[in-house]
Amino acid sequence: MNDDLEALKTSTDAALAAAADLRAWDAIRIAVLGRNGSLTAMLRDLANVPPEQKKERGAALNRLKDALNAAIDGRKLELEEAALDARLLSERIDPTLPPRPRELGLIHPISRTMEEVSAIFGAMGCTVVDGPDVESDWFNFGALNIPAHHPARADHDTFYLPPSRGSSVPSVLRTHTSPGQIRTMLAQEPPIRVIVTGRTYRADHDATHSPMFHQCEGLVIDRGMTLGHLKGVLIDFLRTFFAISDLPVRFRSSYFPFTEPSMEVDIGWDRKTGELGRGGDWLEILGSGMVHPRVLANCGIDPREWQGFAWGMGIERITMLKHGIADLRPFYESDVRWQRHYGFNPLAPTMLHEGV
Ligand code: DAH
Repeated sequence: MNDDLEALKTSTDAALAAAADLRAWDAIRIAVLGRNGSLTAMLRDLANVPPEQKKERGAALNRLKDALNAAIDGRKLELEEAALDARLLSERIDPTLPPRPRELGLIHPISRTMEEVSAIFGAMGCTVVDGPDVESDWFNFGALNIPAHHPARADHDTFYLPPSRGSSVPSVLRTHTSPGQIRTMLAQEPPIRVIVTGRTYRADHDATHSPMFHQCEGLVIDRGMTLGHLKGVLIDFLRTFFAISDLPVRFRSSYFPFTEPSMEVDIGWDRKTGELGRGGDWLEILGSGMVHPRVLANCGIDPREWQGFAWGMGIERITMLKHGIADLRPFYESDVRWQRHYGFNPLAPTMLHEGV
């Protein structure tokens, strides 16, 4: 009477044994236990079994149901384990393989110099401040005591941009970092000690000039500031940066609209060999001076109470001198061979206590 039950158990066991993966297994589960499955149909048919056979048939069906459930669940575990084993085997890690070579990037010499300059002036108490590349005419020129028709404007080969909204004067790509002085004095009360590093722009392009280059500006405002302070700060800076403790430094009177008096700073070198610190020649390296009283007044600082000094220099220029780099153009060409030669290890960052 229960042959059909035996047959279902036998065929299900055979099908489960043949199921190669969980998908095949799931199809069998549905074919047996699903809504239209064989066992479900048999259970439904129990209603039609004559009453005297119902009890035995019902008990047999229940046993079959338990047996089928156990067989199906058991096979599922087996298949899951087999799948995991196969995955572990395929993903096996071989720790004896040599590592893939990994390229470590290098710090670009310009970034390195900016870090060094920041470290040296930072140790003297300067904060590093930033400014926008696109400046107003007033911040780049006017507030720095360079009025509209001042001849100094002609030296700057300025890139002019359309006026910003609501203005009639053109904006400019900053021709120097000096507008950073103005922004700082408008934003901070004195005393002030800052440097400004960043990109600057002039319409000039040859072996020694690039339309985009970098500068570092410095500004110190305090009571009782003198040329002596300016000289001390710049001599210390130059000797530390070039790592020559007796580097000759010369201050030569000059002219900048935003300083009075103004001084160009030269360092000693040998023109023939290019060696710094030796030989009787002088090389101009930066501009500096006592901040012009009109510049202080333009920023709402009373020049009778506060004095200060400022300086500005080209980052590329001091980088080329320090590392003997002859040509300016490769700085911007992104040639990895050049970078490999002149770049700096990022794992050995600038640290002042080691000397820079
Ligand atoms: N801004 C000048 C330039 O680009 C450099 C300079 C000279 C900056 C004297 C200064 C300074 O702050 O005092 O040529």
